[in-house]
Amino acid sequence: MIMTKDLDSLLNNYPKEKQEYLIPILQDIQNTFGYLSKESIAATSRHFNIPASKIYGVATFYNQFKLHPPGKYHIQICRGTACHVKGSLTILEKLTRELKIGPNETTKDGLFSIEVVACIGACGLAPVMAVNGKYYAHLNQNDITTIIKKYREAATEQEGNEK
Ligand code: FES
Repeated sequence: MIMTKDLDSLLNNYPKEKQEYLIPILQDIQNTFGYLSKESIAATSRHFNIPASKIYGVATFYNQFKLHPPGKYHIQICRGTACHVKGSLTILEKLTRELKIGPNETTKDGLFSIEVVACIGACGLAPVMAVNGKYYAHLNQNDITTIIKKYREAATEQEGNEK
């Protein structure tokens, strides 16, 4: 949950009349809160006195911006050259089928989100993905089923413990 006070103080670091700060401000919001919520876009729109539709246009043009909160398990799938050559596209396709979401989306239950990234610096492990920063190497499609199942079970178990 984004705190209005924190958001206001972040926005106030940027001069209202300088719209060229729009991208840095969006980056700042995303770095601070993890994504661009509707309320943060509305607040940015009021701050610069520009339509929210324009901000959505900018945010969707640059695919670095996330408009949904990341899942409990955030998956970064590498689509850099080494991973591409080793079949990362089929891994991504398998992920989207398994989770029924595309890149930059979050599952309805809030458990998983997918982000496509360029090289994550582990080319020797290609094709590779990371879940909350934990790397999974030399992936094949069956690995995806196993890994997703493991995280689903972990979430269910955790839920059980919290009851
Ligand atoms: S290309 Fe995937 S880790 Fe480098």
